[in-house]
Amino acid sequence: MEKKRFTITSALLYANGPIHLGHLAGAYLPADIFARYQKLKGHDVAFICGSDEHGAAITLQAKKDNVSPKEIIDKYHELNKKSFKEFGINFSFYDRTSSAEHHENAQEIFTLLEKNNSFTKKTSQQFYDETNKQFLADRYIIGTCPKCSNEEAYGDQCEKCGSALSPEELINPKSSLSGEAPILKETTHWYLPMQRHEEWLKEWINNGEFNQKRNHDPKSWKSQVIGQCNSWIESGLKERSMTRDLDWGVKVPVENNEEKVLYVWLDAPIGYITATKKFAKKQGVDWKRYWKNNESEIIHFIGKDNIVFHCIIFPIILKELGGYSLPTNVPANAFLNLEGRKLSTSKNWAIWLHEYLTDFKNQQDTLRYVLCATAPESKDTDFTWKDFQARNNNELVAVFGNFINRVMVLTNKYWEGVVPERSQLTKYDNQILDSIKEYPKRIGDSIEKYRLREALNELMNLARTGNKYLAETEPWKCKKTDEERTKTIINVSIQISAALAVLCEPFLPYTSKKLKTLLNMKEIIWDDISASMIPDLQKIKKHEHLFTKIEDHEI
Ligand code: MF3
Ligand code: ZN
Repeated sequence: MEKKRFTITSALLYANGPIHLGHLAGAYLPADIFARYQKLKGHDVAFICGSDEHGAAITLQAKKDNVSPKEIIDKYHELNKKSFKEFGINFSFYDRTSSAEHHENAQEIFTLLEKNNSFTKKTSQQFYDETNKQFLADRYIIGTCPKCSNEEAYGDQCEKCGSALSPEELINPKSSLSGEAPILKETTHWYLPMQRHEEWLKEWINNGEFNQKRNHDPKSWKSQVIGQCNSWIESGLKERSMTRDLDWGVKVPVENNEEKVLYVWLDAPIGYITATKKFAKKQGVDWKRYWKNNESEIIHFIGKDNIVFHCIIFPIILKELGGYSLPTNVPANAFLNLEGRKLSTSKNWAIWLHEYLTDFKNQQDTLRYVLCATAPESKDTDFTWKDFQARNNNELVAVFGNFINRVMVLTNKYWEGVVPERSQLTKYDNQILDSIKEYPKRIGDSIEKYRLREALNELMNLARTGNKYLAETEPWKCKKTDEERTKTIINVSIQISAALAVLCEPFLPYTSKKLKTLLNMKEIIWDDISASMIPDLQKIKKHEHLFTKIEDHEI
């Protein structure tokens, strides 16, 4: 098998609050499932993530809590890193953009771009808060949206109608720091002339031509991602400022600069590269193999609000730098709502991962299952506690858990945990054994197309097949009349269980581990999954429940 290489990234998480289920369902769990699968296929994977610690999101939070930005990022970086780990999100490297290495790397890249004439420099009038003596980041300006009249639109975006705005468009702009109307003051910045790039971007997004190793057709890109990019490009790309007048961020690397920093959306994606460099160094390999080598597939997992940054701005940066590969896919997800309402950190309407992990100890896989089964792959979806409970009880417990449970109990009861030998196979047995061999490909194909819900459903189909097989062959009745036949039935069922143990790993890593231990299995890679992974007479352990029923009072 050809060994492939994957650079998989999940959006760097703003370190201004704890991670919630919406984040997980959008950019982190899908990436983890994809990365675990590719590793099981034996490929070389760098799975990169970390904290996004600059930008107005952080400084606003710090102001609100009356602490320094550093206190905010230290707190949430540690908290989120820990929650991800406990939830089984298996990053190769979890970095942070406040690190010295990242500042250095981002500055070096800025300097290269500047030397390369990738920017234009321009002086213009910008909003300035006279009371606080500072220029105002777009986020710090609040006013009336020209499109929908929402009086609380931000200088970069109206959250009510979703329009992207620039601060000059706001009616009655006010500084959110002082509440006063800002004045206009002259300042100089570096701009990225994105209009220079329309031609090739259009070609690349629609036909994939600029990336030789884009070894799949652009149809594998989600239509909503391509649609959003095309509408951006068609409405005409403009120049966008890549620096800001702020004191929090990566300092612009020019002489005598005290008050200018890189735009957070320039510095953060570079964070993927910094983190990869650190990861590669730790592994003793060259980082370039993940970014500057056409053999590597770069895949960005993000939420839909990040599409323009990952499909237009960052690719322009990479292209300007030269020698970098462009992403082979950006499988952006839509949003997950909670009980019919939009998730919101500021309105405190969310389920925080660290709280879930305390309330539902050792039930990571239940949440992983539910979030994957309801993932907003093509449109917004809704998370409800009722549905969470129902999926756990009716699917994980009643289908997957029940099948494994019956097989383990019978093996222990009839043969003291020694896997019985199989003898004469019926047509039905053969059919089942053959079908086991089809699942790795079927599930793998869906994962490779980023259809994770479909993949998970296929996994459950194998468990359903197992239950059906037991219901139809009735080994508990057969035992009294035909010992040999009973042995064969249980042997076949054990093989189904073993396949489930490996196939569920990307989705349910804790269950996979537990089941492999119960069956005394060694580590097996995806392509070695077969219908005879458990040898005759292998000793298995006493049964243990894989999943527990969730009662009404718990939710
Ligand atoms: N922190 C951003 C957000 O949550 C995502 C940054 S992704 C990166 O929306 F590419 F910039 F790193
Ligand atoms: Zn609006």
